[in-house]
Amino acid sequence: MIVLIVGGGGREHALAWAVTKSPSLERLYVAPGNGGTAALAENVPIAADDVDALCAFAEKNRVDLTVVGPEAPLVAGIVDRFEEAGMQCFGPRRGAARLEGSKVFAKEFMKKYGIPTADFAVCDETKAAKQQVRALGPPVVIKADGLAAGKGVVVARTTEEADAAIEEIMVRRKFGDSGRRVIVEECLQGEEVSVHSICSGGRAVLFPTSQDHKRAFDGDEGPNTGGMGAYAPVPFVDAETRQVVFDSIIMATLDGMEREGNAFSGVLYAGLMMTPAGPKVLEFNVRFGDPETQVLLPLLKSDLLLLLHRSAGGSLPQEIEFYTGRCAATVVMAANGYPGQYDRGGVIKGTGASNSEDTVVFHAGTEQTAEGLVTAGGRVVAVSAWAGDLKRAIARAYEGVAMITFDGARWREDIGHKAL
Ligand code: AMP
Ligand code: GLY
Repeated sequence: MIVLIVGGGGREHALAWAVTKSPSLERLYVAPGNGGTAALAENVPIAADDVDALCAFAEKNRVDLTVVGPEAPLVAGIVDRFEEAGMQCFGPRRGAARLEGSKVFAKEFMKKYGIPTADFAVCDETKAAKQQVRALGPPVVIKADGLAAGKGVVVARTTEEADAAIEEIMVRRKFGDSGRRVIVEECLQGEEVSVHSICSGGRAVLFPTSQDHKRAFDGDEGPNTGGMGAYAPVPFVDAETRQVVFDSIIMATLDGMEREGNAFSGVLYAGLMMTPAGPKVLEFNVRFGDPETQVLLPLLKSDLLLLLHRSAGGSLPQEIEFYTGRCAATVVMAANGYPGQYDRGGVIKGTGASNSEDTVVFHAGTEQTAEGLVTAGGRVVAVSAWAGDLKRAIARAYEGVAMITFDGARWREDIGHKAL
């Protein structure tokens, strides 16, 4: 099979790493890719959201399957475009991608189909939003409706903080038109867990549960980031709870979307809060998480390429196989200043030395240049490791981190500690 992976982060390097293990792979392209995918595949200089250019490239190069990493092209309708051109593309069509593309759509959908989530109100003017803040009472959560690169959510501890967030999003339009409407919702308490499923033809298979670390600093302090590390599986989610999530969240969503005439295919990733009243949905994503992918794929025993190919073709296998008893952890090394302003172009050393039979360095913001490998993004690399227990997997990931150097490198020291 000739395969094109769309995207250029750690998630896409992990997807490329897993796909290259498949005997069915003939040729792999990654657009735009990074310094890590360059070693496994041919990087193609096309931006992940340039749907026209991606479609033309896939036609010209007789790509059999395109796998889309990030949400923006999915929400823009890349799958519909490829299908109209007679090509296979793994991911949801535009109508189904609204589960991530519009938080208002997702919340109203969940309400209609009785899928557990926080109580909320949709507000299209500031006055109504501020009234809703007072009706719920702090703490409350303010969410911009549309895509905001993971930054459109404010957990406000006071009425003043909530009002300020409403002004930023709706009046100053910090996230552009994504802030035309906001959701004001109840603040849930509990542990956050990510559940990934691959869905097709009304069926779903679950990945092990995982936990991301969204805040920049140890102890969940500092600003929200794209994710500073992850581990899987989550020991405090038992088989019974997983079944509840499967039935009342994943399958209920697939059934509801089908009834809405928007059958879902691709990765359905539910961000959950484990509340005393059971798991509730914080958000839906319609693609693999980053950095969750960097811990989920080392646990997968089945052939990822066949799984994605069958799923895109509408015939999902009944079961997927994972390595029994294996745990994985990933630690993100970021550039100083991330998630704010950061430098680029710093030379990176030691990524080769850190790879071994139980450790792999997934590149995110890296680029191969004449001077060697240099930094090219906020999240630079994610070092993943796996072992028979989580403690050892975490320790191995940090051993890998210790071998890598670049100016201003910063990482969290407490990835996975909550699970130990
Ligand atoms: P989201 O992009 O919707 O996942 O939100 C980003 C982060 O905001 C989540 O990972 C949670 O930490 C937090 N969050 C979102 N909604 C809620 C809520 N209703 N209650 C508490 N925290 C929330
Ligand atoms: N790790 C969070 C996300 O991919 O949305």
